[in-house]
Amino acid sequence: MKISKQNRVVWIKLLPAVFFLFGLLVFAVSCSNDKKAAIAIGGEWYMSYCASCHGDNGDGQTQIGATLNPPPQDLRQIAKRRNGIFPDAEISKIIAGKENVPGHSTTDMPIWWESFKKAEGVYDDKSLQEKIDQITAYLKTIQEE
Ligand code: HEC
Repeated sequence: MKISKQNRVVWIKLLPAVFFLFGLLVFAVSCSNDKKAAIAIGGEWYMSYCASCHGDNGDGQTQIGATLNPPPQDLRQIAKRRNGIFPDAEISKIIAGKENVPGHSTTDMPIWWESFKKAEGVYDDKSLQEKIDQITAYLKTIQEE
């Protein structure tokens, strides 16, 4: 009797920790689902807006690509070209095209920050940035080792 009562006390004391861990688990699962959803949306946008020049698989070997100067890079090798590090913020900036990123200033790459406004009717900064970040998240998943 005495032992089981003690056990109960121990369990009651542990309850907050159990709730906390459960909450943490729910949070982690929902975060990873959000991330998966973001990548899926990014992939759809990639196919709609980017594949024509960069190729369905990102290799840049397209008819349009061949006519551009400089030609579109292989987007599967973004990280490889940067010592194995995928620079999320820099890639989002390149896609947005709002700032002159060195090497991408005068280029045939469209300025998506402006293009998405017209093409999708997305005008507020937060939504535009979210779309671009989703595409960046997708590109991160197609990187070659
Ligand atoms: C009209 C053709 C065209 C389309 C459509 C296009 N791009 Fe590009 N992209 C280019 C060209 C050309 C370059 C090379 C620019 C340079 O090197 O200055 C480039 C470069 C890039 C780079 C830089 C790669 C690196 O390693 O620095 C990224 C990232 C990129 N594009 C992403 C995208 C995404 C995402 C989309 C769709 C939202 C897209 N592009 C649509 C032509 C295009």
